[in-house]
Order: sequence, then C-alpha cells, then structure tokens
Amino acid sequence: MSVGVAVRRCLSLKKNGAANGTLCLVPRCAEGIYCVVNFSSDRIAMRHNAPDSLASLLAARYGTTTACPIPANDTLNGLLSHRSVRAFSATPLAEGTLELLVAAAQSASTSSNLQTWSVVAVEDPQRKERLSVLANNQDFVRSCPLFLVWIADLSRLQTLGLKREKPHESLEFLEMLLMATIDATLAAQNAAVAAESLGLGVVYVGAIRNHADQVARELGLPAKSFATFGMCVGHPDTARPAAIKPRLPQTAVLHRETYDDGVIHDTIEGYNATMDDFYRQQNMKPLGPWDLHSLNRVRGVDALQGRERLVEILKAFGFGLR
Ligand SMILES: Cc1cc2nc3c(=O)[nH]c(=O)nc-3n(C[C@H](O)[C@H](O)[C@H](O)COP(=O)(O)O)c2cc1C
Repeated sequence: MSVGVAVRRCLSLKKNGAANGTLCLVPRCAEGIYCVVNFSSDRIAMRHNAPDSLASLLAARYGTTTACPIPANDTLNGLLSHRSVRAFSATPLAEGTLELLVAAAQSASTSSNLQTWSVVAVEDPQRKERLSVLANNQDFVRSCPLFLVWIADLSRLQTLGLKREKPHESLEFLEMLLMATIDATLAAQNAAVAAESLGLGVVYVGAIRNHADQVARELGLPAKSFATFGMCVGHPDTARPAAIKPRLPQTAVLHRETYDDGVIHDTIEGYNATMDDFYRQQNMKPLGPWDLHSLNRVRGVDALQGRERLVEILKAFGFGLR
C-alpha cells in the first residue's frame, strides 16, 4: 500500500467517527511506516518505525486487530517491534556498543552457569567479504559494520579439564552440544534485543553453516567449538526500512495443557493470506503460499545447501555427538 493510499484510509477512518483526540494507526501502511491520524489536531503524521501501542504492534505482528488489556512498556514495545534489518547505513557504531551488547549477551541465563558460548566480532571488511561469500553471498554481511558470530563453545571446558587433569567425558555427548547451542542462542537474542533498544538493526545469518568448516577456519575456531549463526548489526538504512513480519496466529503455536496437532489445519489458510498480503504491501515478489514456501525449504538434501554435512563436520571439529 502506498503512503497516499494509507493517508486516504486514515482520513476515511476519521470520517467514520473515531473519538476526537485519539490516535488512529494503520499498521504496515507502507514499508516500516505507520500512518497516524491525530484527530484532535486534525493532522496526519507519518511515523517511521515508531508504533507506540501494544494493540498496533500486535496488529502488525498478526496481520489482524488484536486487543490487549496490558499496558505497553519499553521492553514490550521493543520486542514486538522486531524486524530483521538487511540494509544498513554507513554510520559507524558508537564506541562501546560491542562491549555493551556482549554484556547484555552475558546477562542471559546459561545452563548451570557453564557459559558454553563465545562470540567472534568481525569488523575487518576483508574478513566480512569472505564470510559474506561463504554465507550464500548475502550482501548485508559485507555492508554491516559489525558481524557477530555466535559460537557453541565446549572448548573452554575441555581446556580447563586438561589443565586440571579432570575427566570431562560428558563433553562427548550430543546433550552438551545442544546445551552450548541453546546458551549461544539465548546470549545472541539478548544482544539482538539490546541492539534494537539502541535503535540498531540486526539480522541473524544461519547461512554461515552452509560452509561450516571454512567459516571455522576463517575465524580460527578451536576444536569443540562451532559457529552456530552470525548476526549483522548496524544502523538501519532509513531509505530501505524493514517492516514487522506477521507470525502464525497464536492458536497455531500456543497449546494449553496438552498439544493439539489438528489446529494447524484451521489456521494455515488464514496465515497464507496474511503473508501474501504482507509481501504485496512490501512490493516484494510473492513467494507463494507460506506453507508451500516453507515446505520447499525442507524438501530434501539439496535444500540444505551444504548443511547436510554437519554431522561429519561436527565430528571433525571434535564433537563426540554420542
Ligand atoms: C538462526 C537464524 C538464522 C537466520 N538466517 C538468515 C539468513 O541467513 N539470511 C536472512 O536473510 N535471514 C536470516 N534469518 C532471519 C529470518 O529470515 C527472519 O527472522 C524471519 O524471516 C522472520 O522475519 P523477522 O525477523 O523480520 O521478523 C535467520 C533467523 C534466524 C533466527
């Protein structure tokens, strides 16, 4: 929807009698832009990526009007405003940003306080270029000022075990790799939330697993460590804003007391339509119905883009996977 069309829609909402003084929000009226009519001042204001009520954020997240009796706060606004940013401006990050993001990451819960993760911060343009090529040639890996690579890291405990001459056989089990991956993911998400709270944009980059062995070499990773995913961090390019992407309705993911595996049949058509609408509003080529598009991603070995070799690669990295 163009901004002009959104403005007309706002005006017609006004004509249809919304109370004076209320802000009327049309979510996703243009990419990253929220169109707000302030009836008290009779003005239309374009707000850029700054939706400010839970109702409007929930509307954008689910593509439908959703009531919420709980008042908004900055944390909820930040979480519900998330959108992956794939276009960055040339503005460098403020000094101390990296360290603050890592402090946020280290503040996440961590299994048994084992802290089985690390992060490699890549800022060198040439290294980013090489990583970009390894990660499916995704351009934002080059263009972001900071590329964080989140490592599931059992190497520290192995080093300590050897130093203390203590057994550390549990490190050979799949459970420990899962634990380290979960820890790394929680840490990364904390950093993402922190970055977004600073007005920065992020996008995760799982494509570094397409060439996990070459990425490990590029970063000089020790045995028993694995680069789970990358994360671009930078100032969003305001000329190419990102929008909130709708998710499945809660009925599809929220099960009460026990799991209901039939519910997806009732929800999928509605979500396919919501996503179709979303891509059209973004002037993006429709990917086809969400379910078919998603199924295409899991169709078989050829869709794994090199990640089908992960068991073998992880074993070569020193993970026992027992
Ligand atoms: C672990 C992980 C890996 C991802 N890898 C990529 C990637 O390689 N390239 C990309 O463009 N987006 C990647 N994404 C971003 C997802 O595509 C995105 O989160 C999803 O489409 C939902 O959109 P949103 O984040 O804007 O809400 C990744 C997300 C996660 C959580």
